[in-house]
Order: sequence, then C-alpha cells, then structure tokens
Amino acid sequence: MTNSPIIAAARPDAEWWRTAVIYQIYPRSFADSNGDGIGDLAGVTQKLDSLANLGIDAIWFSPFFESPQKDAGYDISDYRKIDPIFGTNEDLDVLLAKAKSLGIRIIVDIVPNHTSDQHAWFKAAMAAPEGSAERTYYHFLDGKGENGELPPNNWQSIFGGPAWTRTTNPDGAPGQWYLHLFDATQPDLNWDNPAVAEEFDEILRFWLRKGVAGFRVDVAHGMVKRAGLPDATNYDHNMRELPISNLGREEAEKAVPYWGQPGVHDAIRRFRRVLDEFDDRAFCAEASMSPLPRLAMWVRPDEYHQAFNFDYMTCDYEPAALKKIISDSIIEYAKVGASSTWVLSNHDGIRHATRLGIAKENTPRPGDGIHPSDPAPDEALGLLRARAATAFMLGLPGSSYLYQGEELGLPEAWQLDVKYRQDPTIARTNGERIGRDSCRVPLPWVAGETASNGFNTTGESWLPQPENYRTFSRNLQEGVPGSTLELYKRLLKERKAFSMGSGEFRWAEHFEDKNTLAYVNNGVLVIFNFGPDAVALPAGEVLVTTQHDLTAENELQHDQVVWIKL
Ligand code: GLC
Ligand code: CA
Repeated sequence: MTNSPIIAAARPDAEWWRTAVIYQIYPRSFADSNGDGIGDLAGVTQKLDSLANLGIDAIWFSPFFESPQKDAGYDISDYRKIDPIFGTNEDLDVLLAKAKSLGIRIIVDIVPNHTSDQHAWFKAAMAAPEGSAERTYYHFLDGKGENGELPPNNWQSIFGGPAWTRTTNPDGAPGQWYLHLFDATQPDLNWDNPAVAEEFDEILRFWLRKGVAGFRVDVAHGMVKRAGLPDATNYDHNMRELPISNLGREEAEKAVPYWGQPGVHDAIRRFRRVLDEFDDRAFCAEASMSPLPRLAMWVRPDEYHQAFNFDYMTCDYEPAALKKIISDSIIEYAKVGASSTWVLSNHDGIRHATRLGIAKENTPRPGDGIHPSDPAPDEALGLLRARAATAFMLGLPGSSYLYQGEELGLPEAWQLDVKYRQDPTIARTNGERIGRDSCRVPLPWVAGETASNGFNTTGESWLPQPENYRTFSRNLQEGVPGSTLELYKRLLKERKAFSMGSGEFRWAEHFEDKNTLAYVNNGVLVIFNFGPDAVALPAGEVLVTTQHDLTAENELQHDQVVWIKL
C-alpha cells in the first residue's frame, strides 16, 4: 500500500482562527426576544447555550449596526451603534460577556466598501458643493454626454441596473453622479481618500476595545477602484458580469476595474496594523476572487488572516472536481502561510440542503435565488447530500463556516411569495432575479409552539416560515439519534477530539475509485460515497457517519460519509 503525500502538516493549535468552526448568525432571523418578528441580540444571548452545546468556536454576526435596512443591514448609517431593531450597545456587552464565559468568540461584520445614503458622511457630501472635501469621501463625478446626462462609465450594480445615480442640486437642476456597486442607497466610499482610511482605523479600534475577536470584511475585493474609473469590459450583451477566472491577473484587473485592484493591498495592510495592536484577533475577507492563487494574495502574512472559499462553496457535487478544489485550496493558501477555509452556505446563496437537490444545469447563479415558479428541487436528495457534504467538510484541516439553520438540515424557503421579499435585487431587475430572501427566513426552534415555531412567543415573523419548517425544529432533533443536529454535534466533537482542524492530511487513494473520495486526517479515515453503488468499509471503529446505524461490517450507501478511526 503506497501512501499519498501529506498535503497539510499537523500544526499546533495556537492561532484559533486557523482551525475554528465559525457559526454565522443572521441576527434578524436567529431568535426574537421581544416578539416583534425580527431577531435581536437579547434573543441570541438567550440561545447561546444551544450553540455552545453544538460545539462551535466562534460566531460571525451579519451586520447589526444602525441602518435603514435597505439591504438587510449591509447599508450602515452609524458604524458605532447597534440598530434599535436588534437592541442596544449594552445588549451586545451582555452577549459578549456570556459568549466569553462559554468560550465562544464573536466576530462582527465590517462594511468598508460603502455606507448607507443615510450616513452622516453621505448626507454631508450631498449638502456640499461639487469639488468639496465632503464629496471626496465618495465617488462623485460629472456625467458624460452634452449635459452630463450619461453615467460616468458603464459599470453595473451587482443588484442590477447601472452603478451610478444622478444627484439633484439644491436649485433643482440635475447634478453630479455618485457610484454604488450595490443598491442606490449604498454609495461606495472613496478609499483613495486618506480621511476614509482614518475613519475606519477608529471604527475597528472601537469594536476591538469592546472585545470582539475580529471582523468579517464585506466586499473586501471592491474597496479600491482602478484609477480614473475606466469602463469595464467583462459584460455580456445584457450587461451582466461574466466570470473572469480564465483571464490572467493583469487582464482581469483591467477587465473589471472595480474588483481586486492592486491598490487594495495597501488598505488591507493598514487594517491589519490596526488589528495587530490587539492580541489574538483575526480578519476573514469576503473576497470573491478566482482562481485560488489570486485569492491567496489576500491572505499573505501582513494582510487578512483568511478569506472565504467561494470556489469550494460553488463546486459541483462530483468527486474529481471536489478533490481538485480541496487540494488546490490547501496548497495555495499554505504557500502564503494561511490556512484554508470551507463553507457550504451563507446568507447570499441557496441553502446547500436545497442547492444540492438541483441539477447542475438548473442551478441559479449565486445571489439570483430559486424562483417560486421554477421546477421544485429534490429536497430529500438535497438533504442527503448536504449531510454528506458537511460531514466531508468538517474533517478537513482549516477553518469551517456554518450558516445558521444548516445544523437542522433546513431547506431554502424557495416558495416564499414575492410580496414578502425585500432583497433590492428584485426591484433592480424588475423581478427577473428573485434574490436572497429565501435563505434568510427565521429559524424554527420549537415545533408548533407558535406560528413561527418558537422563533418568538408571538408567532410574528418578518418573513413567514414555510409549512415544512416545523418538521426541522430544533426540539424535534435534540437528542434524537440520526438527526441532522446530532450529526453536527458528533462531527464537531470528533473533529476536536482528533485535532482535525490542524491535522496531518493526505488523500487515501487506495480507498478511492471514480465514485468515492477518501482522506486521512490525524488517524481518521473519511470516506465519501457519491454513488450509485454501496462500498465496503475497511476495519476500524466508526466514529461518526451520516448513515443511520452504520457499523464497520456494513456497506456505505450512496451520498453517505463515514469517519473511521484507523
Ligand atoms: C456582501 C454581503 C451581501 C450584501 C453585499 C453588499 O456580498 O454578503 O449580503 O448584499 O455585500 O454589502
Ligand atoms: Ca425583536
């Protein structure tokens, strides 16, 4: 039996973020303490024990700062204040103290690419004349055309439509245009202005002093724009962005002058210097960069600590593709001294319990969502595969991100009526793209307790739960062998027991064929059977498996994973 080479060496657990399992809380949908239908910080504090019990190391909160909520809090009007719908700054202090007592670190979401149009900086910029210092916080430009009636360039908003909106001067005449890569209520900040960087130094310090463990950095790939804001060249005939992973780095930087510009690395290093004034804190970048060697540039030693692995998240459910992305991730990140991250679901995509039940050719683009009139996904198959994909992921070395509700096997609420939906993408595309609301529906805690299944005591819910959420309620799974919740707990427990987050990893090719993948990490053999046939298992103690009542004498069925102690 020949051994495959080691591709990740065992390393000490000193830097917590390298191995952490980080649970994403989408605050408006986790738990609601005051019954208004919107989750809040006090609700999270009440439920923290259940997360400690799950076995996570840290929580990343999607934004809970003051915001008009035009993009569910990713439009911030005050970076130092908790929005009243989520509670108060004191509520966060209480939460931080309780989390600390449970050994859970708290990561908050920082949004440096844009503010809300209700932020004091933008209001001041709008009130100030052209060419003023106030306007240099953002990208205000004159339009093209005879009377400035055309936008300054051809950039498109990620949510659809042009990335520019024209202002109106105090005298009622049309004025300059401002840039917004997202909704018109989310003007982009100008990171070439040192005053902007100074403001953020202080915002970071404010939260670091409060005791947060670090930041998830929103749209980290967009902060710095190419000098002169030239036209982009990567649009299809509908002005939709095309993938650029086939282009070389410099070509890609030219084609998309607002993503991944070289100047961003100075801004990152500055962030890092501020963070390093404090012990033991970390950054995770939302940097949608592809391919992996390009993304790895963002996690060099003096830059971010880690970056989300979106190529892994969107990888096909197929052994060869998965094997390649896992190897590439470990190797490319290691080249710059970083650990890999893994993620299968978040608040922008389609929950993986549903996504993996959709044929590849029917899978919507990230952010587009499943339309209620689309063909129904195969939810039973999706759940089976989601459990397997998660069990395979949680044995990998590096850090894993979980999205609230996936530990219940929660499906996407894809049939959610359009009338409830709030994602700005819908309005900006005239309903063509249905958006992300259906992965953001409040969690079911106690089956049938209220119309919202224990999300609160009133049954109110900012997005209504679909009928089937009842059956996924946490209380129906707690302590029930074979439930998805107990599976997650067991995976996290064994992962820790065998230090797999920092383990010695190699592919176990002698257990693989074209329909299976296998690896060994710190003496634990993990086998994934993609099917269709069952596979025989080697001798050893079954530590955990997605397959009910599996013993080493049995065969591993299709779409199942097992962890065996060698
Ligand atoms: C990120 C967030 C997404 C948000 C966007 C604009 O991609 O994850 O939810 O809409 O940034 O802030
Ligand atoms: Ca509430």
